[in-house]
Order: sequence, then C-alpha cells, then structure tokens
Amino acid sequence: MKVQVQPAAEDDAADACNVIRNSILECCDDDHRGDAKVLEAWLCNKTPDFVLGLIRAPNAFSVVATVDGKTVGFGAASATGEITLCYVAPSVRFRGVGKALLAAIEDHAARAGVEALRLESTRTARTFYLRNGFASEGPPVLSFGIEGQPMRKQLRSRG
Ligand SMILES: CC(C)(COP(=O)(O)OP(=O)(O)OC[C@H]1O[C@@H](n2cnc3c(N)ncnc32)[C@H](O)[C@@H]1OP(=O)(O)O)[C@@H](O)C(=O)NCCC(=O)NCCS
Repeated sequence: MKVQVQPAAEDDAADACNVIRNSILECCDDDHRGDAKVLEAWLCNKTPDFVLGLIRAPNAFSVVATVDGKTVGFGAASATGEITLCYVAPSVRFRGVGKALLAAIEDHAARAGVEALRLESTRTARTFYLRNGFASEGPPVLSFGIEGQPMRKQLRSRG
C-alpha cells in the first residue's frame, strides 16, 4: 500500500470529512461506547464546512493522506502546534497512515519553529501517540462528553 501525504486543498474537505466521521463511528468505540448522545455531540460539527475552515485557516497546517487517489486520512494543526484532528479511514487503520500524517505535521511544525506539539488524545489513540514520542501532560479533560488526555511532544528545530 503506497501512502501519499500532502498539504490539504479546499476540494479535499468533503472526502476528509467522511474519513473523520467514519473513523469516529467505527474506530472510537472505546470513547463513545455507542452512546447516541455522545456521538451526536462529537459528530455535530464534523461537516465539510468545518473541515474547509481548518484547511483555509491562516497559518494553520492541514494534511491529507491518499492511497491510489482515495482519501484515507486527514490531520490538522494550529500555528502554535496544537493538533486539532488526526483521523484515519477504518479500512486502512494500523498500516502506517496515521504515522505518516503525524510525521508531516511534525516536520512542518519543526520547520516553522514550533517548540512542541500538543493535543488532547482520545482513549482510542493514546497508545498511538505514546509510540510516536508523545507523553501525557496533566489530567484528562472532557470534550464532547468524552475524555481527552492532554499530550505533548518536544520538537527539535529543523529551520
Ligand atoms: C489513531 C490513528 C490516527 C492511528 O493511525 P493508524 O494509521 O491506525 O496508525 P499507524 O498504523 O500509523 O500506527 C503507528 C504506530 O502506532 C501503533 N498504534 C496505532 N494505533 C494503536 C492502538 N490503538 N493501539 C496500539 N498501538 C497502536 C502502531 O502499532 C504503530 O506502532 P509502530 O510504529 O511502533 O509499529 C487511527 O487509528 C485513527 O484514526 N483512530 C481513530 C480516530 C482517533 O482516535 N484519532 C485521534 C484523535 S486525537
């Protein structure tokens, strides 16, 4: 499987949104446990317009992963190194797509002089981030009715 990762463009928004929604629905059972209210709160802002806003946001950085031209992953980070989203399509999970998205975000952030990446991890993704150099930072916080674990990774400048 050949994964390509590149900066997201505006016309990636609809397909990326589908990846995000399917990933939440099918991969994040440890977080939502099938609770309809939690899912509704989590999914209600996951619209193509929301993703378009992330792609268009000035100074922010978003990346899309494709396999054979099909969108299979999306990640986004703010100019200060806050990773806002990182989602992989259920059909290609555990095959290196998340790692490739994270590497692209990390490379961009390091070149931009960002000192550290931060995020609030789902339960589902915690081991993934630990294996990719992140460490927990402080107690869990609640968002969308699910527990997010603050995590941080120190970067080396690649200016
Ligand atoms: C978390 C997620 C982005 C990881 O992407 P992925 O493509 O499945 O993961 P990769 O194949 O790139 O995995 C990279 C490494 O993390 C490990 N890993 C990934 N998910 C893991 C899990 N749930 N448990 C244990 N290890 C995991 C892999 O074994 C691999 O380790 P290695 O490099 O040491 O061999 C993806 O599974 C996903 O979209 N999950 C659901 C949505 C989600 O929770 N997103 C995060 C929001 S904060």
